[in-house]
Amino acid sequence: MKLLEERIRQDGRILGKDILKVDTFLNHQIDPELMQKIGDEFATIFRDVAIDKILTVESSGIEPAVMTGLALHVPVVFARKNKSLTLPDGVWTADVYSFTKQTINHIMIDQRFLTAGERVLIIDDFLANGQAVAGLVAIVTQAHAEIVGAGIVIEKAFQQGRQLLDEAGIRVESLARIAAFENGQITFMA
Ligand code: G4P
Ligand code: NA
Ligand code: NA
Repeated sequence: MKLLEERIRQDGRILGKDILKVDTFLNHQIDPELMQKIGDEFATIFRDVAIDKILTVESSGIEPAVMTGLALHVPVVFARKNKSLTLPDGVWTADVYSFTKQTINHIMIDQRFLTAGERVLIIDDFLANGQAVAGLVAIVTQAHAEIVGAGIVIEKAFQQGRQLLDEAGIRVESLARIAAFENGQITFMA
């Protein structure tokens, strides 16, 4: 998505060797018009697929997920990060390890909002090591629902997430694919 790549080039800041800061339009301040175009783009990409529901993880997945749900006219469910020590009843759960933050998040979805046979599109802001999407996949599997694909706003193609999802047989569609960060420059995949 050209517009998104241009925005990443313009606003993105590289932190350390592999983190892209995009808090001017995605991860802190949000550009609603860009988000809407992102939702429309996912709706176009997945237009031939039957989708009952969109699934994401709080917090930064919610914006692109809602905009996609708006374009496709389907509900959006976000997995919550469980911060209490006890687990509530009636939830699907998964553990998500964050390489970036070196923490484990316990994510959960109320069983009322994900049921057997539902066709689910996963949407997330970043694909890095794929652990967040893998957690959602684990939850969808527990619920005996079905994954029809994963839509990613920004993929860091030099990390392991894509390979993990390919191996799981999941169709991944990313709107911007970063090949590398070199000397403070962002290179996109051709
Ligand atoms: P993974 O899910 O692909 O394995 O990613 P990883 O564990 O490395 O990342 C953990 C968190 O950091 C995720 O957000 C993910 O979206 C985000 N992230 C990963 N790489 C980047 C990056 O280059 N730039 C930015 N801005 N974020 C990145 P989260 O912990 O779920 O938190 P939230 O911010 O969505 O609340
Ligand atoms: Na995220
Ligand atoms: Na994030």
